[in-house]
Amino acid sequence: TPMHEFLAALPKCEHHLHIEGTFEPELLFELAAKNNITLPADKDAAFASIEALKARYLTFANLDDFLGYYYIAMSALIDAADFEALAYAYFKKAASQNVRHAEVFFDAQVHTERGVAFETVVSGLKAAKARAERDFDLTVELIMCLVKHLPLPSAMETFAHARDGGFFADGTLLAIGMDSSEKPFPPNMWTELYDAARAAGIRRTMHAGEEGPSDYVVQSLDLLGAQRIDHGLRTFEDPALVKRVVDEKIMLTTCPLSNLKLQCISSMSEFPLRQLLDAGVRFSVNSDDPAYFGGYILENYWVLQDTFGLTVAEWEGIARGAVLGSWCSEERRAQLL
Ligand code: HPA
Ligand code: ZN
Repeated sequence: TPMHEFLAALPKCEHHLHIEGTFEPELLFELAAKNNITLPADKDAAFASIEALKARYLTFANLDDFLGYYYIAMSALIDAADFEALAYAYFKKAASQNVRHAEVFFDAQVHTERGVAFETVVSGLKAAKARAERDFDLTVELIMCLVKHLPLPSAMETFAHARDGGFFADGTLLAIGMDSSEKPFPPNMWTELYDAARAAGIRRTMHAGEEGPSDYVVQSLDLLGAQRIDHGLRTFEDPALVKRVVDEKIMLTTCPLSNLKLQCISSMSEFPLRQLLDAGVRFSVNSDDPAYFGGYILENYWVLQDTFGLTVAEWEGIARGAVLGSWCSEERRAQLL
């Protein structure tokens, strides 16, 4: 349709993308074979074949159901070239959908816990970024996520390793965030981490209000000084919070297909797109874990269009808000505006 073509051509920014969530079953099986990693097909028949795994990905019961597959798949990533191949494949796909600026999460602790060095992960991602920035009209930033299912000392140790190794100071890493299971691990657990990041002058985002309540968004702003909220789906439970997010220009990095696939909403019509637009919230539309949720950024734009029938002007406003909310250089922002 003409609107689908318009959305394909529209320059986009992606702010909520887990690089491990771009691990397509084909590449997973290829790297598992190369690295002699046995996927646990004895425990879960979904790992028996690419086709079985793809079929399993068609439905997830909730966030934790998805995360089980996501963390097992990561075990096939061993050397820097694996991380480079994973990330470059995403950058190529994103560029083909006219993504011009991508801010990419990675889960440092999940790799270091299984014996892959932090430097291995980061050097592979950095190599892919350098190649992609040469090959495409694309700028890339890396955001280190700490995981909520491991204890605070693990997050602190990983953060200190990156900070003291100069990875933020030299621009290799742009910011921190947190992801993984949400409800049992409220934001108020992580004040020490966010205080340390703030003291070091490092930008901060936080996954909040995906499965957890709007109060987790409030905690992220009040207690963590989060400058951006990843998902924030449940923000509209709290009118005072909506006003605050608008007044303080806090960007919500929304992920419609993710919310649907993880049963955070029961149909796309429940996605709060009209509320976001009507309230004047700054937000972007993102893919989260596209290998698992049935689409990359363009498919997320398309499903919103098919559900809500936006105008060209509304989409141009969304795209402009995404540029304004990007953590890119001012030079790049001027190019994209
Ligand atoms: N939510 C929380 N943690 C995650 C996600 C998500 O959508 N994707 C990867 N880790
Ligand atoms: Zn996410």
